[in-house]
Amino acid sequence: MFSVRRLREILSIICFDVQKILSRTLDRLYQKTLTPGTINRFSSYEPMKRVRTISLFSGCGGSDLALTQLGFDVVWANDLWSVACSTYKDNIPQSRIECGDIADFAQFPAAELLVGCYPCQGFTQGGRRDWGESLNFLYREFDRVLRSVKPDAFVVENVNGMAFGDSRRLLANQLCRYRLAGYRLVWKILDAADYGVPQTRRRVFLVGVRSDLSFKYHFPEPSHRTIGGQPAASQRAALAGMPNWPVGEFNEEPFHWYYLSRNRRRDWSEPSPCIVGHWRHVPLHPSSPPLRRIHTDKWEFTSSAPARRLAYRECAALQGFPREFVWNRGSVRDRFQMIGNAVPPPLYRSVVRNLQPLWS
Ligand SMILES: C[S@@+](CC[C@H](N)C(=O)[O-])C[C@H]1O[C@@H](n2cnc3c(N)ncnc32)[C@H](O)[C@@H]1O
Repeated sequence: MFSVRRLREILSIICFDVQKILSRTLDRLYQKTLTPGTINRFSSYEPMKRVRTISLFSGCGGSDLALTQLGFDVVWANDLWSVACSTYKDNIPQSRIECGDIADFAQFPAAELLVGCYPCQGFTQGGRRDWGESLNFLYREFDRVLRSVKPDAFVVENVNGMAFGDSRRLLANQLCRYRLAGYRLVWKILDAADYGVPQTRRRVFLVGVRSDLSFKYHFPEPSHRTIGGQPAASQRAALAGMPNWPVGEFNEEPFHWYYLSRNRRRDWSEPSPCIVGHWRHVPLHPSSPPLRRIHTDKWEFTSSAPARRLAYRECAALQGFPREFVWNRGSVRDRFQMIGNAVPPPLYRSVVRNLQPLWS
């Protein structure tokens, strides 16, 4: 006679094998369905053990593109914004994204990794820094999913304003909640330019590992702009071959006083300033004439040569999205928003790669 325990063991072996066969078949089917607009998650990245991942606040998929490139299996993703969900589906069809308010979802699949970049409008550069704003409390939703799924690890990305001033109370709140949920945490501000992204962009990353696991996470060391490291990635390389004046793909409004209250231009040989979500505030294209400082918060062009803001495809390239990423959904303004909201995929790859030994 089989004991119940033995029966359970046999069942779990059978289930595991069925799961493996299904997963391989789906992968093969997926390979066959690749179209030119589909990012091949198998290309040039090492294969790894299947790690089921839930992604919250997924946007157009900057973070999830990085995950799929590394071989993670995004089994469930979510965003409130239909334009972002459609763009996500166009580019990462192998993952399932559900469109809707996260507060309305109660059931989640099992997963080893949970990731999320909850919005914190009140902390963005030039924003109101209003730490009472309701958007700033979306981390409670993340915490709810964390406690329900209990993954091995989680990764959060947010604007670096969260680590300063009054906002630090909210960061402390998050750290406290996640520790109480049973996770060991580390956090750090990383600059995307230090990891080969042609843009200076400082963001806070939180990485948590469940306390019963002995794995210790370390943030990656910068690969660029360090002594002995590689030089900063340039706008010249990122924008090579793109049209000079892509009419209809950038904001043509006049440069108002607020826009000219700081230097919005960097040379071709440098990384760009931070790519923001509002199309009126994106940096200048490097072909624009340099700006010079008149006095505090006032800059002017050094010549009357044509000047323009970056186009959305250029912003995507400076965020590290591959050229084949499809931007067909929403208005031009929406595309700027999705791109500026996104986590630069190369930076995210660097952060998540250091978690991979947890599952090897
Ligand atoms: C910073 S962006 C995420 C960027 C994304 N991780 C990427 O790399 O492309 C935050 C996203 O949260 C979404 N969002 C805001 N409130 C939400 C809610 N209540 N439920 C689900 N998504 C929400 C926004 O639509 C936005 O796309």
